[in-house]
Parts: sequence; C-alpha cells; structure tokens
Amino acid sequence: MQDCRRILITGGAGFIGVNFVRQLLADEPDVTVVNLDALTYAGNLASLADCLQHPRHRFVRGNIGNSELVRHVIREHKIDGIINFAAESHVDRSIAAPGVFVDTNVGGTLNLLAAAREAGVRRFLQVSTDEVYGSLGAEGFFTETTPLSPNSPYSASKAGADHLVHAFHHTFGMDTVITRCSNNYGAYQFPEKLIPLMIKRALADEPLPVYGDGSNVRDWIHVSDHCRAIWAVFAKGAPGEVYNVGGNSERTNLQVVKTILALLDKPESLISFVKDRLGHDLRYAIDASKMKEELGWTPQVPFDEGIRRTIDWYLANGDWVAQVASGEYQKYFEEMYGTRGAAE
Ligand code: NAD
Ligand code: DAU
Repeated sequence: MQDCRRILITGGAGFIGVNFVRQLLADEPDVTVVNLDALTYAGNLASLADCLQHPRHRFVRGNIGNSELVRHVIREHKIDGIINFAAESHVDRSIAAPGVFVDTNVGGTLNLLAAAREAGVRRFLQVSTDEVYGSLGAEGFFTETTPLSPNSPYSASKAGADHLVHAFHHTFGMDTVITRCSNNYGAYQFPEKLIPLMIKRALADEPLPVYGDGSNVRDWIHVSDHCRAIWAVFAKGAPGEVYNVGGNSERTNLQVVKTILALLDKPESLISFVKDRLGHDLRYAIDASKMKEELGWTPQVPFDEGIRRTIDWYLANGDWVAQVASGEYQKYFEEMYGTRGAAE
C-alpha cells in the first residue's frame, strides 16, 4: 500500500485529468494535488473553474518536457507521488502531425521519470492505453501479457513511454505502475473524440462523420470508473506491474452513434459514412480480471446509464463546449494570467 500524500498530477486540465482531480479532492481529504498542465488545445482551466481556489489544489502551467520546471515543482512542493496523464491523445491528430506526440508522450514522460528518480519520488503511475496492444480481430481480449504492437503514431508514442517506465523500474528499481484503459467517455471530453463530437454535431443538426462502415469496435468505460481504477492502482498496485482497465461495454461505432441520435431524438439520416481513418484499428477489448482479482475493482457505470448522463452533461454545458472548441478561453486565460499560469 503506497501512502503518497503530495501528488503531482500532470495533464490535470484535460478530460480524464479534471475528472480525476475532482474525485481525488473529494475522496482523499489528506491528499494535496499539484496540477501541471501545458494548457494545449485539449487542456482548459474552464474545466477546473470550481477547483482553482481549493486549498489542496495548486495549478501550474507548464510543459512536462521542461526539466528545470519539473524538477522545481517536485522540489518546491515536496512531491512524493506522480500520476502522468499529460499526453497528446487524439489518434487523428497523430496521423496528421506525429512529431509533438513523440515530444510529449515519449520525451515528456522520460523527463518526468528522470526528475522523479533524482528526487526520490516514491511512486510513478503512467496512464497508458489499450491501444499499445494493437488491434484485435472479432474474438479475444487484451491481457497484460499481450505483446505490444501499436499501429498509430499515437499508440506507438504511448508504447514508447510504457517501455521507458518499465526500463526505469527494471534498471533503477523505481516504483512504477502502468494502467492501460479502453475508451473513456463522460463530462469534460474535448469535442474531437467520437462521443462528444457526435453529440455536438447532432445537437446542431450537422452530419455525423462515421469512418468506414462504422463496424469498428471499442470497449467504452465511464471516466469515473477509470479514475477509480487509477487510484486503486496508485494506492495498492504492485511495483513494476501493468493493470488493464476496461468497461465490459463493447459497441460498434455505428451502435454508439445510433444510441446518441435516439437519445437526442434526432434522425439517423444525419449519419454520414466518410473515408476511413488510415490504419484504423478494428477492435479493442479488455480482460480486466487482474484489476478485479488483485485490487477488487470492477466498472460500476453501465453504458446505457453513462451515455445518458453524458448527454445530459453536454446539454447542460453548452457554454463549456462553445468555449473550449473556439479557443477563446485560451486567449482569455493568457490575457488574465499571462503565459506562465495562475499559480507560479
Ligand atoms: P486530453 O487530450 O483530454 O488531455 C491531455 C492533457 O494533457 C491536456 O490538459 C493538455 O493540456 C495536457 N498536455 C498535453 N501536452 C502536455 C505537455 N507537454 N505538458 C503538460 N501538459 C500537457 O487527454 P485525456 O483523454 O484526458 O487522456 C489523458 C491520458 O489518458 C493520456 O495519457 C491518454 O493517453 C490516456 N488515455 C486516454 C483514454 C481516453 O479514452 N481518452 C483512454 C486510455 C488512456
Ligand atoms: O482505447 C483508448 C483510446 O481511445 C485512447 O488511448 C485515446 O486517447 C482516445 O482518443 C481513444 O482513441 P480512439 O481512436 O479509439 O477514439 P476516437 O474517439 O478518436 O474514435 C473512436 C472510434 O470512432 C474510432 O474507431 C474512430 C471512430 N470515429 C472517430 C471520430 C472522431 C469516427 O467514426 N468518426 C469520428 O469523427
């Protein structure tokens, strides 16, 4: 059982990070969070508005690849644990421009590992993805021993980071753990990913672009279940281990899109089949039995309930969508706080 109480969360202004920070502040009253985020297009303080004044949350704007800054933050805040969410996370963007994926996902992670080792940080959790395993056919599941076989520049960069995390454990004896989760959905997801994009476009009566024939399969998990899994692994996972996290909710993309249209009472004629994603992985599915047997974790939110809650959240938070999608908030933030961020 790890007992880190001063935790550096990186990427805590992005989708999963903001959900995790909220959950941690609510559930762990003696944990202090330092939140380091570069505020790329995907990170928004608008998503953390109610946390910025929290006495146990400190926001620092900065790049995980900046070694001086990372070392300073770890030292200054006496960090004893790190959970690395920060990444370029969108597969389509990695196909268009892979360089920044290597810089942040590989170079940034290496920089964090080196700084953590130097400072004697007690535990390092790498938030990874099931995409490092590549693609499944119609049958089977990814287990923790499935060989890594990433197919996109995004997943290749995440696999590179996983190898570095393993190497720091094996070579230097660092206490590291890795989580590999399937597709998340829920509040605060940037509207470039399938579910929020389809909700946004359906609400505007715009065509919904389904890649190929829509038969690709993803295993959907509500973000709150992923966040609980990350904390379980951080608190109780065995050093050097990998844990697969999944939602037991396989759906084709077409099923997901039709569900969204039905819940919004919009016609299926909005569906527009478009050119397929290059190198599009056919199917992801997770065997999460290690999480259940070793850490007692199982997903709690059924897809039908989670997707309703998610749609309700987007319906109630149209201002957030408009703000993050327009980039206006970024400009507002820079005018208010300059480029160094609110806290440092
Ligand atoms: P996101 O794109 O919504 O958020 C990423 C955050 O990282 C943003 O706030 C961004 O500003 C920040 N960031 C990017 N580059 C940075 C840098 N160089 N320095 C500091 N901060 C930087 O991503 P997400 O969906 O919240 O994913 C978080 C993590 O979880 C990623 O590592 C991703 O690979 C992993 N993951 C995501 C999913 C999913 O379905 N979304 C599933 C499994 C794993
Ligand atoms: O599996 C975990 C991964 O899930 C995470 O590591 C990634 O960070 C996250 O982005 C997600 O990757 P995907 O590529 O699976 O997610 P995305 O939402 O981009 O696409 C989901 C599926 O929907 C995929 O098969 C492609 C398809 N799609 C996506 C978009 C954006 C469409 O058909 N149309 C679209 O417009």
